[in-house]
Amino acid sequence: MSTTAIPGYRYGDPALPPAPIGADGLRDLRAACLLSDDDLAALSEAAPIIEPQIEEILDTWYGFVGSHPFLLASFSTAEGPHQGYLAAVRARFGQWIRDTLRAGYDDRWLAYQREIGRRHASGKGEADGITGTPEVVPYRYLAALIVPITVTMRPFLAKGARDAEHLERMHQAWFKAVVLSVALWSEPYVREGWW
Ligand code: HEM
Repeated sequence: MSTTAIPGYRYGDPALPPAPIGADGLRDLRAACLLSDDDLAALSEAAPIIEPQIEEILDTWYGFVGSHPFLLASFSTAEGPHQGYLAAVRARFGQWIRDTLRAGYDDRWLAYQREIGRRHASGKGEADGITGTPEVVPYRYLAALIVPITVTMRPFLAKGARDAEHLERMHQAWFKAVVLSVALWSEPYVREGWW
């Protein structure tokens, strides 16, 4: 799917407000996550392995969310799960996997991470014009979901890994990149000046 065809996807949109940190802040946050240039190389090696499997990966993650009512609640109105909302987010989620593997850490990427954080918090539902679902994704679950989003990736990476060491390298890099994203997304949840 071409990125311009994904409704609500705004990576690269110059109208997005800038992120609260720039290249220096990102360098420090990457250092705190131990996310090295070698990890970025491992992510680009993972990209051709993962990209053909994105729909299966999304099935796994949506299966996880769907089987936990306290998670599915974020996508639900009083009438139950909002299928249009789930589908709209799924398309952007797939693109996020591609973007995370590409790791093009420039100001446009930082601005979109800020927007993704906002969409889990004060801007929830805006991108898809959804009303009637909970106003915010509880932050504790954002942090917690790092675990399943990391653990479930391993068998998908294993399908293309050269050997156990290659698998471990790609998996560690994925873990660090997800932590980096969630650290950036935490901004709207943190008291002014404390982020
Ligand atoms: C490691 C944790 C998580 C990751 C990596 C993640 C990833 C994403 C991504 C990539 C998007 C689409 C962003 C875009 O608009 O381009 C998204 C949106 C969304 N996520 Fe998460 N998410 C996480 C945790 C959670 C949790 C715990 C929930 C609760 C069920 C959740 C609920 C949602 C909802 C409701 C949206 C749509 C927000 C909107 O209205 O635009 N996410 N997430």
